[in-house]
Amino acid sequence: MTTTIPVTLLFSDGVSRRLQVPCGHNLVESATASGLNLLTDCSNGHCGTCTAQLVSGNVDLQAYDPSVLPDEDRDVGVVLPCVCSITGPCAIEFPYDSTEAMTEEPEPMPAEVTALDQVASEIVRLELAIGKKIVFEPGQYVRIHPLGTEVSRSYSMANAPGTDRLEFFVRLVPGGAFSSWLANAKIGDAVEISAPHGTFFLRHENRPRLFVAGGTGLAPFLSMLRTTSVESTTPQPRTTVVIGARTHGHLIAMDELEQLRASMPGVAIHVAVEQDDDPATHRGYPTDLIARLQLDADTRVYLCGPPPMVEAGRSAAESAGLPRKEVLCERFT
Ligand SMILES: Cc1cc2nc3c(=O)[nH]c(=O)nc-3n(C[C@H](O)[C@H](O)[C@H](O)COP(=O)(O)OP(=O)(O)OC[C@H]3O[C@@H](n4cnc5c(N)ncnc54)[C@H](O)[C@@H]3O)c2cc1C
Ligand code: FES
Repeated sequence: MTTTIPVTLLFSDGVSRRLQVPCGHNLVESATASGLNLLTDCSNGHCGTCTAQLVSGNVDLQAYDPSVLPDEDRDVGVVLPCVCSITGPCAIEFPYDSTEAMTEEPEPMPAEVTALDQVASEIVRLELAIGKKIVFEPGQYVRIHPLGTEVSRSYSMANAPGTDRLEFFVRLVPGGAFSSWLANAKIGDAVEISAPHGTFFLRHENRPRLFVAGGTGLAPFLSMLRTTSVESTTPQPRTTVVIGARTHGHLIAMDELEQLRASMPGVAIHVAVEQDDDPATHRGYPTDLIARLQLDADTRVYLCGPPPMVEAGRSAAESAGLPRKEVLCERFT
């Protein structure tokens, strides 16, 4: 007879669910079998989307990318449920509401490519028409599946919610499956998109904000800034935006950002470029600037970009006196 093990799942709305998981079984698969859709993306420990907190007991973590789960996080109980095998009773806390996990994933929505523009070195702006207005939290993402392919990848919306168009900034990764499709895509091509997902969304809090973006990691922050720029009835907290890119040619949406800065009191923008010298920009990484910004101790930090940048940002924020566990992260692997 297979031994089953009690596992308690705790959600941010206070709801808990208890599962009986056969010993050695994968947590996400066991939850799915019990009707719970835990948030995942890559399902193999390489993106960090499923990150959760072990609050009691132990799990066995199978192979994963240490850049999305550094040892010091693992040591304090951070886990990747997609690679967790259950070997003993445990309780795990998820950073999202139970409703998100209990809702069946809606059918994918049909969409059509309406614009494709190379807007910077290696970066394409992709626009999709959905046929209906789509609501999401600024900072969330959808999975895009080009019809006629086996490929499905996640991309963060750069536009404000509530329109029938979605805008994305996609870095073309050499040899990448979606990148190769996109490099040859045409206006009118058909894709399917998932419902919006993700816990990396703008928190409506009365505390200063720091947005740190690497490359196309600027996309969710564009959505947040575009959204708050039209919410003129609510005074917005002071927001510092730090943008990093390999060269000036890799920077996106700089003109619009300048317009947003000029129209939004309390928004400051800093740019760091790794390879070009320019007196107006810092030569180096965006995370180098965190120590110099003299941030208030209650600043909410948002980091989005490649995993090493996110990790450097978390360490820099901690050194600047900001609690590591309050930093919000989205890793584009
Ligand atoms: C929540 C989330 C939001 C994201 N939002 C954005 C966004 O807004 N913009 C953006 O640009 N990206 C975003 N990403 C990243 C995006 O989802 C893709 O991971 C990225 O675009 C690469 O996809 P790809 O199919 O082109 O590459 P992949 O096919 O996934 O390949 C990635 C790399 O792995 C290599 N590779 C692939 N297969 C193999 C193999 N068999 N053996 C060895 N190497 C291999 C490829 O050569 C390439 O270097 C996001 C990711 C997440 C998780
Ligand atoms: S879904 Fe778990 S790390 Fe990607």
